[in-house]
Amino acid sequence: MNTEYPQIAGPIGLFDSGYGGLTILHQIRHLMPQYDYLYLGDNARTPYGTRSFEVVYEFTLQAVKKLFSMGCHLVILACNTASAKALRSIQINDIPQIAPDRRVLGVIRPTAESVGSITHTRHVGVLATPGTILSGSYPAEINKLFPDIVVTGESCPMWVPLVENYEFDSPGADYFVQKRIGNLLRKDPDIDTLVLGCTHYPLLINKILKFTPRTIKIVPQGEYVAYSLRNYLERHEELEKKCTKQGTCRFYTTESPEKFNESAAVFLRRRVIAERITID
Ligand code: DGL
Repeated sequence: MNTEYPQIAGPIGLFDSGYGGLTILHQIRHLMPQYDYLYLGDNARTPYGTRSFEVVYEFTLQAVKKLFSMGCHLVILACNTASAKALRSIQINDIPQIAPDRRVLGVIRPTAESVGSITHTRHVGVLATPGTILSGSYPAEINKLFPDIVVTGESCPMWVPLVENYEFDSPGADYFVQKRIGNLLRKDPDIDTLVLGCTHYPLLINKILKFTPRTIKIVPQGEYVAYSLRNYLERHEELEKKCTKQGTCRFYTTESPEKFNESAAVFLRRRVIAERITID
């Protein structure tokens, strides 16, 4: 048994490169307000979407270890890029070594599970960061479950910067959003289901809706991740018992807490007070 990390029950950890994971936290807390949560944003090193596999893996593993050391027995990578590039290695190579009784889950699998019952044409589009698209994780996960679905991706390198700089409702955002949705639908005009494969993108929803034909359904990733987590906890009683239930939520950032508080208020539509920590 691992003795390096606290053995007593602790909060559920959520990790993202920055603010995007707050959209997932929001849905998880909405569904399961009873648990304690600890959110960690690696804002000092965001964005991850354009970084190499090695770097995203290294940064994500550091964050996971930090969350374990802060008492989390269960960590959700609330970031598609980290889920795409680091989750598998961490689950297969690291967890058995460093903390065999702790768990790390991602956001891609629950999203992939959801599309099978949504699409009628069996053509699904994925909008995500260059890293997530290049990893091929969405087609791989979706086709593992639904081999008949055609998955087409489009990387949107400007979307995270637009969100991080509060430009998601600005006229300038129209150009970048229209361009990427247009590219995707030109590649596959039969798409009837759209996965927003980046936790930042719900902030761009007004623009995305503006340029997406009404016949196309947009997958609410946060909701599916929340349902999937509830289901997971119901099936894993031992782990569930190690998640404390006082209904609290603490926020940590690797950058300025003031900046985090300001941005988190935009993502969560409520005030938060974050603390700065280092994770490397
Ligand atoms: N929120 C992250 C995701 O879901 C991307 C942000 C970044 O590029 O760091 O992919």
